[in-house]
Amino acid sequence: MNDLGTFHRDPLPGTPPLKEWPCTIDKASDFLKTWYDSGKPFFTKKELEKLSTQLNRRYNTRGRNSSQKQLISIKGLTGSKLRYEVLTGQVLTGEKENQDWEMRVNALEQVKLEEAFFPLQIEHFVLKRASDTKLPIVADYIRNPVPVDEYLQSTLKSWKQFPHWKNLEELLKLVSNHKITKVIGIANGPMEFGTNEHYIGRCGMQNSVIITIKESIEEITGQKIKCYTQDPRYTAVDQWALAQHGCEVLEDPKALLEIDDNCILFSCCPALPLKEITVEFARPAMLIWDRVDCYRDREWTFSHNPDSPRVGNMIQKEYDCHEFWDMPEDGEVPFKSCLTAYIRRKVE
Ligand SMILES: C[S@@+](CC[C@H](N)C(=O)[O-])C[C@H]1O[C@@H](n2cnc3c(N)ncnc32)[C@H](O)[C@@H]1O
Repeated sequence: MNDLGTFHRDPLPGTPPLKEWPCTIDKASDFLKTWYDSGKPFFTKKELEKLSTQLNRRYNTRGRNSSQKQLISIKGLTGSKLRYEVLTGQVLTGEKENQDWEMRVNALEQVKLEEAFFPLQIEHFVLKRASDTKLPIVADYIRNPVPVDEYLQSTLKSWKQFPHWKNLEELLKLVSNHKITKVIGIANGPMEFGTNEHYIGRCGMQNSVIITIKESIEEITGQKIKCYTQDPRYTAVDQWALAQHGCEVLEDPKALLEIDDNCILFSCCPALPLKEITVEFARPAMLIWDRVDCYRDREWTFSHNPDSPRVGNMIQKEYDCHEFWDMPEDGEVPFKSCLTAYIRRKVE
């Protein structure tokens, strides 16, 4: 577990015995491959909505039954169920004196063999903090001398001077003949923990990108649109700073549930299978995300957000690709990522 790490506790049985058990890696792989090749979805809005409702219920009843375990039940691909205990708010004593681990909001993840049949799982983001002051002892947080709102203001200002923004602005004019009701940013990263060298130009910039897209679309169309963003690592301060620019932070997975045909979806290096989720949920008017390599040999590449054949097909058949971000060899590009814009083709 690192300073701002994740914690995955083993699930509890939901419908024992699990239909798939006893299991082996080969059996699980065969099952998943057959499922995949059949084109059946791994992520459905219905299951994600059920999960969101359970999480929401937990937030609304927080503290009422503090002695009772709070459990979330999740249905897997074969209909078996697992339950996860919600630990949000609990504090574990750290390995050093004067160190606690505070369990933060839930995040959705995918891990172990027992859980191979469960595309949706629960993890917790953990914050290391001092037992006495309760303040984070995350290095980036300590090094950050600038208030988050000031940092966001100044990043926003510099982002607007970037040639990449000028290019993107031109593309927004092309997409404005689609109906656009919202901009969604997924996994832009926190700013309270993200102003150190590694993150400079990343989290602040990425949050700036969605704010400028919202402003620009509103200017082009003369209509107000929504701006939602989701990253379990956002702090209350991040949330407040983003709200000053009309951008609403949603609890995981609510921003994913907002993905529809009338949105512009932005995400850079998200630690979740966003492309796969998107392909199963909708055809957003515009996607701005890590380039989809439609021709790569996909025998085995580990990635949180893979370019599956299904994703490749969607992009090839339904979207026009616009490079607005050069990748110079010197690595000067702020996100060091092949961000690419895809605009949905108009069906005549
Ligand atoms: C590799 S970092 C990328 C952060 C930032 N986009 C960048 O390019 O520096 C992956 C991000 O995914 C976020 N993430 C993980 N699970 C998520 C979820 N379920 N919803 C939204 N963001 C998530 C993490 O908190 C983290 O900020």
